[in-house]
Amino acid sequence: MKVQFKEVSKQFGKLMALDSVNFTIKPGEFVFLTGRSGAGKTTALRLITDYYRADKGEILLDNQRLSQLKTKQRLSKRRRIGMVFQEFKLIPQMTVAENVMVAVALRGAAKKKRHQEVEQALRLVNLEDKMAVFPAQLSGGELQQVCLARALAMKPDLLLADEPTGNLDPASSWELMNLLIKVNKQGKTVIMATHNVDIVNSFATRVITLEKGKIIGDKKKGKYQ
Ligand SMILES: Nc1ncnc2c1ncn2[C@@H]1O[C@H](COP(=O)(O)OP(=O)(O)OP(=O)(O)O)[C@@H](O)[C@H]1O
Ligand SMILES: [Mg+2]
Repeated sequence: MKVQFKEVSKQFGKLMALDSVNFTIKPGEFVFLTGRSGAGKTTALRLITDYYRADKGEILLDNQRLSQLKTKQRLSKRRRIGMVFQEFKLIPQMTVAENVMVAVALRGAAKKKRHQEVEQALRLVNLEDKMAVFPAQLSGGELQQVCLARALAMKPDLLLADEPTGNLDPASSWELMNLLIKVNKQGKTVIMATHNVDIVNSFATRVITLEKGKIIGDKKKGKYQ
Protein backbone atom coordinates (compact mmCIF):
# COMPACT_ATOMS: atom_id res chain seq x y z
CA MET A 1 0.00 0.00 0.00
CA LYS A 2 1.14 3.52 -0.80
CA VAL A 3 0.89 6.07 2.04
CA GLN A 4 1.01 9.82 1.49
CA PHE A 5 0.79 12.71 3.93
CA LYS A 6 0.20 16.11 2.35
CA GLU A 7 0.56 19.06 4.73
CA VAL A 8 -1.00 17.00 7.51
CA SER A 9 -1.58 18.70 10.87
CA LYS A 10 -3.17 17.29 14.00
CA GLN A 11 -3.79 19.41 17.07
CA PHE A 12 -4.77 18.43 20.61
CA GLY A 13 -5.99 21.68 22.16
CA LYS A 14 -3.12 24.09 21.64
CA LEU A 15 -0.57 21.36 21.12
CA MET A 16 0.49 20.68 17.53
CA ALA A 17 1.06 16.92 17.63
CA LEU A 18 1.75 16.97 13.86
CA ASP A 19 2.56 20.15 11.99
CA SER A 20 2.39 20.27 8.16
CA VAL A 21 3.85 16.83 7.64
CA ASN A 22 4.65 15.64 4.10
CA PHE A 23 5.92 12.27 2.97
CA THR A 24 5.26 9.55 0.42
CA ILE A 25 5.88 5.91 1.27
CA LYS A 26 5.89 3.65 -1.76
CA PRO A 27 4.30 0.21 -1.84
CA GLY A 28 6.74 -2.34 -0.44
CA GLU A 29 8.93 0.18 1.42
CA PHE A 30 10.25 -0.41 4.94
CA VAL A 31 10.32 2.85 6.88
CA PHE A 32 11.32 3.75 10.42
CA LEU A 33 9.44 6.60 12.01
CA THR A 34 11.62 7.92 14.76
CA GLY A 35 11.92 10.81 17.17
CA ARG A 36 11.76 11.49 20.89
CA SER A 37 8.82 10.78 23.14
CA GLY A 38 5.96 13.07 22.18
CA ALA A 39 7.37 13.76 18.70
CA GLY A 40 4.13 12.60 17.04
CA LYS A 41 4.92 9.04 15.90
CA THR A 42 1.85 7.33 17.35
CA THR A 43 -0.33 10.23 16.21
CA ALA A 44 0.90 9.72 12.63
CA LEU A 45 0.09 5.98 12.77
CA ARG A 46 -3.34 6.68 14.26
CA LEU A 47 -4.10 9.08 11.44
CA ILE A 48 -3.28 6.34 8.93
CA THR A 49 -5.65 3.90 10.64
CA ASP A 50 -8.39 6.54 10.75
CA TYR A 51 -8.41 6.45 14.57
CA TYR A 52 -7.79 10.22 14.44
CA ARG A 53 -8.84 12.61 11.69
CA ALA A 54 -6.39 15.21 10.39
CA ASP A 55 -7.28 18.84 11.19
CA LYS A 56 -5.51 20.04 8.06
CA GLY A 57 -4.05 18.44 4.97
CA GLU A 58 -4.74 15.13 3.33
CA ILE A 59 -3.80 11.52 3.91
CA LEU A 60 -3.89 9.32 0.81
CA LEU A 61 -3.85 5.54 0.83
CA ASP A 62 -3.18 4.08 -2.62
CA ASN A 63 -3.90 7.53 -4.06
CA GLN A 64 -7.32 7.79 -2.41
CA ARG A 65 -8.00 10.66 -0.03
CA LEU A 66 -9.14 9.31 3.33
CA SER A 67 -11.33 12.36 3.88
CA GLN A 68 -13.29 11.65 0.71
CA LEU A 69 -14.02 7.99 1.39
CA LYS A 70 -17.45 6.87 2.57
CA THR A 71 -17.68 4.93 5.83
CA LYS A 72 -17.82 1.59 4.06
CA GLN A 73 -14.77 2.40 1.94
CA ARG A 74 -12.91 3.64 5.01
CA LEU A 75 -13.60 0.36 6.77
CA SER A 76 -12.43 -1.70 3.84
CA LYS A 77 -9.20 0.35 3.69
CA ARG A 78 -8.82 -0.11 7.40
CA ARG A 79 -9.00 -3.89 6.93
CA ARG A 80 -6.02 -3.72 4.60
CA ILE A 81 -3.88 -2.40 7.47
CA GLY A 82 -2.33 -4.66 10.09
CA MET A 83 -1.22 -3.21 13.40
CA VAL A 84 1.24 -4.28 16.06
CA PHE A 85 1.20 -2.14 19.14
CA GLN A 86 3.19 -2.13 22.32
CA GLU A 87 0.20 -2.90 24.49
CA PHE A 88 -0.80 -6.30 23.20
CA LYS A 89 -4.59 -6.14 23.34
CA LEU A 90 -4.98 -9.90 23.18
CA ILE A 91 -8.13 -11.44 24.64
CA PRO A 92 -6.99 -13.13 27.88
CA GLN A 93 -9.80 -15.72 27.97
CA MET A 94 -8.84 -17.03 24.53
CA THR A 95 -5.92 -19.23 23.55
CA VAL A 96 -3.23 -18.02 21.19
CA ALA A 97 -4.91 -19.84 18.29
CA GLU A 98 -8.33 -18.41 19.19
CA ASN A 99 -6.92 -14.87 19.33
CA VAL A 100 -5.52 -15.26 15.82
CA MET A 101 -8.75 -16.95 14.71
CA VAL A 102 -10.66 -13.75 15.55
CA ALA A 103 -8.64 -11.90 12.91
CA VAL A 104 -9.00 -14.71 10.36
CA ALA A 105 -12.78 -14.77 10.87
CA LEU A 106 -12.99 -10.98 10.76
CA ARG A 107 -11.31 -11.02 7.38
CA GLY A 108 -14.07 -13.32 6.20
CA ALA A 109 -11.90 -16.33 5.38
CA ALA A 110 -13.84 -19.46 4.37
CA LYS A 111 -14.73 -21.54 7.45
CA LYS A 112 -12.94 -24.63 6.15
CA LYS A 113 -9.71 -22.73 5.66
CA ARG A 114 -9.65 -20.82 8.94
CA HIS A 115 -7.78 -23.34 11.05
CA GLN A 116 -5.14 -23.75 8.38
CA GLU A 117 -4.68 -20.00 8.14
CA VAL A 118 -4.27 -19.66 11.90
CA GLU A 119 -1.58 -22.34 11.79
CA GLN A 120 0.10 -20.63 8.88
CA ALA A 121 0.23 -17.26 10.67
CA LEU A 122 1.60 -18.82 13.85
CA ARG A 123 4.17 -20.83 11.94
CA LEU A 124 5.44 -17.65 10.35
CA VAL A 125 6.28 -16.24 13.79
CA ASN A 126 7.58 -19.62 15.05
CA LEU A 127 4.83 -20.06 17.63
CA GLU A 128 2.95 -23.06 16.26
CA ASP A 129 3.74 -25.05 19.43
CA LYS A 130 1.99 -22.43 21.61
CA MET A 131 -1.39 -22.55 19.89
CA ALA A 132 -3.31 -23.95 22.85
CA VAL A 133 -1.69 -21.67 25.41
CA PHE A 134 -3.33 -18.59 26.98
CA PRO A 135 -1.74 -15.12 26.74
CA ALA A 136 -0.96 -15.06 30.49
CA GLN A 137 1.34 -18.06 29.96
CA LEU A 138 3.51 -16.30 27.37
CA SER A 139 6.56 -14.05 27.67
CA GLY A 140 6.50 -10.46 26.40
CA GLY A 141 8.38 -11.46 23.26
CA GLU A 142 5.98 -14.30 22.54
CA LEU A 143 2.98 -12.02 23.09
CA GLN A 144 4.43 -9.59 20.59
CA GLN A 145 4.82 -12.45 18.11
CA VAL A 146 1.17 -13.45 18.59
CA CYS A 147 0.18 -9.84 17.88
CA LEU A 148 2.21 -9.94 14.70
CA ALA A 149 0.63 -13.27 13.72
CA ARG A 150 -2.81 -11.77 14.34
CA ALA A 151 -1.98 -8.71 12.23
CA LEU A 152 -0.66 -10.94 9.42
CA ALA A 153 -3.74 -13.15 9.54
CA MET A 154 -5.63 -10.13 8.20
CA LYS A 155 -3.40 -10.41 5.11
CA PRO A 156 -2.71 -6.67 5.17
CA ASP A 157 -1.05 -4.58 2.45
CA LEU A 158 0.38 -2.30 5.09
CA LEU A 159 1.80 -3.22 8.48
CA LEU A 160 2.11 -0.56 11.17
CA ALA A 161 4.22 -1.37 14.21
CA ASP A 162 4.25 1.07 17.11
CA GLU A 163 7.30 0.54 19.31
CA PRO A 164 6.94 -3.23 18.89
CA THR A 165 10.23 -3.94 20.62
CA GLY A 166 9.44 -1.71 23.60
CA ASN A 167 8.93 -4.58 26.04
CA LEU A 168 11.48 -6.95 24.58
CA ASP A 169 15.02 -7.91 25.52
CA PRO A 170 17.64 -7.37 22.79
CA ALA A 171 17.53 -10.96 21.46
CA SER A 172 13.73 -10.95 21.19
CA SER A 173 13.86 -7.50 19.60
CA TRP A 174 16.12 -8.78 16.83
CA GLU A 175 13.87 -11.77 16.28
CA LEU A 176 10.89 -9.47 15.89
CA MET A 177 12.86 -7.26 13.49
CA ASN A 178 13.70 -10.31 11.39
CA LEU A 179 10.02 -11.17 11.25
CA LEU A 180 9.11 -7.64 10.16
CA ILE A 181 11.72 -7.82 7.41
CA LYS A 182 10.38 -11.20 6.33
CA VAL A 183 6.91 -9.64 6.06
CA ASN A 184 8.32 -6.69 4.10
CA LYS A 185 10.06 -9.07 1.70
CA GLN A 186 6.64 -10.56 0.97
CA GLY A 187 5.81 -7.19 -0.54
CA LYS A 188 3.98 -5.53 2.34
CA THR A 189 4.70 -1.92 3.23
CA VAL A 190 6.01 -1.69 6.79
CA ILE A 191 6.10 1.45 8.93
CA MET A 192 7.68 1.01 12.32
CA ALA A 193 7.66 3.75 14.95
CA THR A 194 10.47 3.48 17.46
CA HIS A 195 12.94 5.47 19.51
CA ASN A 196 15.33 2.54 19.62
CA VAL A 197 18.36 4.16 17.99
CA ASP A 198 20.34 0.90 17.95
CA ILE A 199 17.71 -0.81 15.86
CA VAL A 200 17.25 2.13 13.51
CA ASN A 201 21.01 2.43 12.95
CA SER A 202 21.40 -1.28 12.30
CA PHE A 203 19.30 -1.21 9.17
CA ALA A 204 20.15 0.73 6.05
CA THR A 205 16.52 1.52 5.35
CA ARG A 206 14.57 4.79 5.17
CA VAL A 207 14.26 6.81 8.37
CA ILE A 208 11.75 9.63 8.85
CA THR A 209 12.53 11.66 11.95
CA LEU A 210 9.95 13.77 13.73
CA GLU A 211 10.54 16.48 16.31
CA LYS A 212 7.67 18.27 17.99
CA GLY A 213 5.35 17.25 15.18
CA LYS A 214 7.62 18.33 12.33
CA ILE A 215 9.72 16.22 10.01
CA ILE A 216 13.37 17.08 10.63
CA GLY A 217 14.89 14.27 8.60
CA ASP A 218 13.94 11.86 5.84
CA LYS A 219 16.89 9.72 4.90
CA LYS A 220 16.84 6.95 2.40
CA LYS A 221 19.88 4.82 3.01
CA GLY A 222 19.12 1.65 1.09
CA LYS A 223 17.46 -1.54 2.16
CA TYR A 224 18.26 -3.53 5.29
CA GLN A 225 21.99 -4.13 5.94
N1 LIG B 1 -5.40 11.82 22.59
C1 LIG B 1 -4.57 12.81 22.92
N2 LIG B 1 -4.99 13.88 23.60
C2 LIG B 1 -4.17 14.90 23.90
N3 LIG B 1 -2.87 14.96 23.57
C3 LIG B 1 -2.38 13.91 22.89
C4 LIG B 1 -3.18 12.79 22.53
N4 LIG B 1 -2.41 11.90 21.85
C5 LIG B 1 -1.19 12.45 21.81
N5 LIG B 1 -1.15 13.64 22.43
C6 LIG B 1 0.02 14.53 22.51
O1 LIG B 1 0.55 14.69 21.22
C7 LIG B 1 1.98 14.66 21.24
C8 LIG B 1 2.47 13.55 20.33
O2 LIG B 1 2.11 12.31 20.93
P1 LIG B 1 2.48 10.91 20.30
O3 LIG B 1 1.81 9.89 21.11
O4 LIG B 1 2.17 10.95 18.86
O5 LIG B 1 4.06 10.87 20.49
P2 LIG B 1 5.08 9.68 20.20
O6 LIG B 1 6.11 10.22 19.26
O7 LIG B 1 4.35 8.47 19.79
O8 LIG B 1 5.76 9.45 21.63
P3 LIG B 1 6.29 8.11 22.35
O9 LIG B 1 7.64 7.85 21.77
O10 LIG B 1 6.36 8.48 23.79
O11 LIG B 1 5.30 7.03 22.08
C9 LIG B 1 2.37 14.48 22.70
O12 LIG B 1 2.72 15.74 23.22
C10 LIG B 1 1.13 13.93 23.34
O13 LIG B 1 1.04 14.33 24.68
MG1 LIG C 1 4.06 6.62 20.65
